[in-house]
Amino acid sequence: MIFGGKGIIGLDIGSKHIKVVQLKELKTGYQLDRLGIMPIAPELIVDGSILDAPRVVEAIRKLIAETNIKVKDATISVAGHSSVIIKRISVQQMTEEELSESIKFEAEQYIPFDIEDVSLDFQILEQKQSEDHMDVLIVAVKKDKINEYVSVVRDAGLNPVVVDVDDFALENMYEVNYEIHENENVALVNIGAGTINMNILKGGVSVFTRDSSVGGNLISDALQREFAISYENAERLKYGEAVEGISQEDVSASLMSSCEDIVGEISRSFDFFRGTSRQGEDISEIILSGGCSLVKDFVSLLSDRIAVSVKIAEPFRNIQVPDSFDKGYLKKIGPIVAVATGLALRRIGDS
Ligand SMILES: Nc1ncnc2c1ncn2[C@@H]1O[C@H](COP(=O)(O)OP(=O)(O)OP(=O)(O)O)[C@@H](O)[C@H]1O
Ligand SMILES: [Mg+2]
Repeated sequence: MIFGGKGIIGLDIGSKHIKVVQLKELKTGYQLDRLGIMPIAPELIVDGSILDAPRVVEAIRKLIAETNIKVKDATISVAGHSSVIIKRISVQQMTEEELSESIKFEAEQYIPFDIEDVSLDFQILEQKQSEDHMDVLIVAVKKDKINEYVSVVRDAGLNPVVVDVDDFALENMYEVNYEIHENENVALVNIGAGTINMNILKGGVSVFTRDSSVGGNLISDALQREFAISYENAERLKYGEAVEGISQEDVSASLMSSCEDIVGEISRSFDFFRGTSRQGEDISEIILSGGCSLVKDFVSLLSDRIAVSVKIAEPFRNIQVPDSFDKGYLKKIGPIVAVATGLALRRIGDS
């Protein structure tokens, strides 16, 4: 059903853009089949909560129709520190079967929510910690958050078959497109409107994840306050467009100062990672995605301040792109569809 079947779409429901990606599986890899981005009004999804479900449903329907997608099965994702917990824990050696029986009990102490309120998944990590213990990655997502997202997707006429988290979708996108360096730590950082997702991989294996509720909105809010303008005009300035009566220099100063705040947030997480990692490890590279990577001068500011080289994510680096797509456009918006591409790479039954 999967190979050569009708496939699955990756649907990333963000608070600024809803994105969809459909890939075709070829013998030699993947090919981009469909791609679409639909901006939504800022009041529809706030702090990761869907506040206006009917309008989100309408936006998804419109996106699917405009992108000419016929497939119904979708992988979606959730994110955010208040609804997703990802932790690496150590448990007694046991079989996967035994662990699936006892995982609730093992995980309970690490999860700040009632265990009955979360949907729990786990993965046994290969590296053995010691003879009698093993490392396990646990993922807990609040059930009401899953239900919120699943129900808008259903109402839009789609069939949500996998619910993933943004951090892992980024990892899937990375695995397909980049070579893994055994002894290096690579940070996947996705800066959207209302969240930053961070996933640090060591030799291709996730060793640290963190979601923060700071994002590009911080820049828009600051511009709005500073120049007493509407959200729409603040977004215009952020995209490098002119707004009457506001000088480019004033905008630059404000942009820089809020970009510094976003960089500070990432920097603190990296410090935390360095402090907790077993051998005081460092990060060799950042693969940056999310709309905020398009903010003027943000990339250079980030790499200067953190002193780590920053590459803008290229989700189609290793994915064939037919000539019918505008390559220049894809290069530009690539970072915005990094999560959606990772989601499109998921297959039913994957764990
Ligand atoms: N060309 C651009 N120039 C400047 N900023 C941009 C550009 N494109 C997008 N952005 C900014 O990027 C952010 C949106 O990015 P993205 O689409 O990745 O977020 P999202 O996934 O919808 O949000 P979230 O996942 O945080 O809810 C917004 O803050 C937007 O203003
Ligand atoms: Mg996002």
